[in-house]
Amino acid sequence: LHIGRGVLAALGSVVREAVGDGPMRVMLAADPNVSAGAIATATLSLEAAGFEVIAEDVRATEADKSLQSAERLLRRLASERAERGDPVIALGGGVTGDLAGFVASTYRRGAPLVQCPTTLLAMVDASIGGKTAVNLPTDEGLIKNTVGSFHHPRAVLLDVETLASLPTRHLSAGLAECLKHGLLSAGFGVESNLFAWTCAHLERFLELDLSYLIELVARNARVKAAVVNADPDETAAGGQRSRALLNLGHTFAHAIETLEGVSPRNTPEDAAFGAPLVHGEAVAVGLVAAANVAAHLELVTPEHAATIREAVESLGVCSRLEGLPADEVLLGRMMHDKKVSGGRLRLVLPCTSVKPASVDAPLGVSMVVRDPPREAVSAGLAAIRA
Ligand SMILES: NC(=O)c1ccc[n+]([C@@H]2O[C@H](COP(=O)([O-])OP(=O)(O)OC[C@H]3O[C@@H](n4cnc5c(N)ncnc54)[C@H](O)[C@@H]3O)[C@@H](O)[C@H]2O)c1
Ligand SMILES: [Zn+2]
Repeated sequence: LHIGRGVLAALGSVVREAVGDGPMRVMLAADPNVSAGAIATATLSLEAAGFEVIAEDVRATEADKSLQSAERLLRRLASERAERGDPVIALGGGVTGDLAGFVASTYRRGAPLVQCPTTLLAMVDASIGGKTAVNLPTDEGLIKNTVGSFHHPRAVLLDVETLASLPTRHLSAGLAECLKHGLLSAGFGVESNLFAWTCAHLERFLELDLSYLIELVARNARVKAAVVNADPDETAAGGQRSRALLNLGHTFAHAIETLEGVSPRNTPEDAAFGAPLVHGEAVAVGLVAAANVAAHLELVTPEHAATIREAVESLGVCSRLEGLPADEVLLGRMMHDKKVSGGRLRLVLPCTSVKPASVDAPLGVSMVVRDPPREAVSAGLAAIRA
């Protein structure tokens, strides 16, 4: 893991070190929305390390995160007669990383992968953990991440300077995942004050203060890595150190992020975003819902829930949504979430290490709650209705 400002200029030597002297070619799969300067820096650095660069543009939409796009990249590798040891490099957000990772994992049964995430979400989440995926179109619509593999990158370069061109909404979306990490990290024995620290510096991050962003990315990457290491195969189903805890806020998020007409803001720039809510914004709202379910169950105090709402609003995400359908509809959608097992709802909820929760106990631990009472879930949903 290489974190810092300008580390992209070292890409060539990092890749060379990761793959040795043999390989002479690399595929650079880059999202054209990343700044031209960053793409040029990456290309020049690879060339300086003696690589011939096979450049491919990857459009960052969920529809383009497809088997067809993977096939296009695989055909290009084959027609260039790329060898198995020639690395594939992803330069972009989570869409680019998931797609290029899938291509790397399947080309000749596995080519080396190097991740250069350029969104905050991809830096703290998608690029760590070795999951690759594409979406599958079905009669019921696009099913996300249905086809994929585990393929760990040889190296990950986190260059915070690339975040300068990221639209603010995507920065906020990544920060929502950071808040989530802060609400569960202490349970994994790392970064015990991350939530309070993140809340205290939200303005710095939103102003793109690079030294704070480096620390944010480093601490959050550490949390993601600790969670993955505690449960590498995702077998600790609902235990206290289960990877499933990363689903905090997500059962609500998955139920609302694809709803039409639900918008957290009503600015003209919203039109530039395909979905009414980008994933991280839905996660932010989901954290508020989860916090209020937890408050209903006395796992946290109402003050804790208010603190979580305040943090979400500081990101510029409205914590109350207009146009949400009835509870039954939302519950039905939550039951369709992949973390439902045996038809029973499982929610990840924040809690405190002392019981009953007291105002002074810090946030930072989360737990899986099976079959939460209906009134508690309704209290959570009520808390996010405008
Ligand atoms: N593999 C995993 O473990 C994992 C974990 C979480 C999410 N994901 C996946 O990640 C995806 C979401 O990731 P994301 O939020 O990074 O989405 P993304 O890749 O779609 O990027 C978000 C937007 O920002 C643009 N962009 C990216 N970098 C930029 C930059 N530096 N400057 C300007 N614009 C830039 C993209 O073109 C896109 O429009 C989803 O497909 C999700 O399934 C995977
Ligand atoms: Zn997420």
